[in-house]
Amino acid sequence: MKRKITILPGDGIGKEVTTEGKKVLEKIAELFGHQFEFDEGLIGHEAIEATGFPLPDETLRQLKNCDAILFGAVGHPKYDNDPTLKVRPEQGLLKMRKELGLYANLRPIKLFDELLEASSIKSEIVKGSDILFFRELTGDVYFGEKGRKADGNTAYDVMIYQRYEIERIAHKAFQAARARRKKVTSVDKANVLESSRLWREVVQEIGKQYPDVQLEHQFVDSAAMKLIQNPRSFDVVLTGNLFGDILTDEASQIAGSMGMLASASVGDTVGLYEPIHGSAHDMTGKGIANPLPSILSAALLLDISFGLKKESETVIKAVEQTLKQGYRTTDIADSKTPKAKILNTRDMGQQVLKQIGSLKKEGMLVG
Ligand code: IPM
Ligand code: MG
Repeated sequence: MKRKITILPGDGIGKEVTTEGKKVLEKIAELFGHQFEFDEGLIGHEAIEATGFPLPDETLRQLKNCDAILFGAVGHPKYDNDPTLKVRPEQGLLKMRKELGLYANLRPIKLFDELLEASSIKSEIVKGSDILFFRELTGDVYFGEKGRKADGNTAYDVMIYQRYEIERIAHKAFQAARARRKKVTSVDKANVLESSRLWREVVQEIGKQYPDVQLEHQFVDSAAMKLIQNPRSFDVVLTGNLFGDILTDEASQIAGSMGMLASASVGDTVGLYEPIHGSAHDMTGKGIANPLPSILSAALLLDISFGLKKESETVIKAVEQTLKQGYRTTDIADSKTPKAKILNTRDMGQQVLKQIGSLKKEGMLVG
């Protein structure tokens, strides 16, 4: 298979982790006989410094001409406490989602057994959790009208959803549920918000087309509680942009660390794959960031954008093996981890590459 992949390292630890993700894709191409061609684009703070724009036209052109995107992170401390800065790294990410029509954000929350102890929640509660979030990504307060009244003392962000936006992501969630445990939990705030009442109405309608899938509705406050109380009761969670942003960070704690989660953003064209952690400036440049979520993002890319299931499984299996052998980066290590098993970013990447090689050699997964 011949494909073009654009790497968007972005800010903070983005460069360090996508470097390892890319190596994994190269290794897979070599071992399974594919031709992956790579290019690299600018986004975020890095792009603002170089061009004045968080998502330069040149990057957008690259993205529209590739088959899949491996993305790192955007963000810089300079902007966090200074709301007067009008041009911001996050705008690059939001514009990219909108311009590429990436309306469905898939965030799988899957717990690796080896990391059970790393979760801040009791292991008997989280064990066996396997949740797939469908977070809507191009609507809601993120893209509704926003502004300030002339007096400067009133600000607003409009929460807005249109029927078609809810329909298309609902279909994706129900379809995914069919291949899983056949349950969709739609999360809204329909007891208060009109946009949520439309959300619920539309999801109910779409649900009728999937009679084999159980549909339940939860209010977001209660869902936030149940995620921690009984995470195993969730299969597919379908929700809007803002609720999804918040709940997926919360749910990341089920998986032990936000630093372990990968995500896919898809729509009707090119797919984008990224860790859900941010730019993590406190770790930047130290070479200690955990590359596993970027590597797991590469696995999602192989599966969802290229349909390469075996290759994707090989990567996930290699990550599992690496963890099983006790290797950890600092963020997922605990007091029992021997010092020699705590690896830096590059060495963790190398371990995964080694595992991919031996899995392929052992013929455990034949391409
Ligand atoms: C995420 C992030 C982004 C979001 C930020 C960086 C704009 O938190 O991808 O979850 O809010 O969507
Ligand atoms: Mg977020």
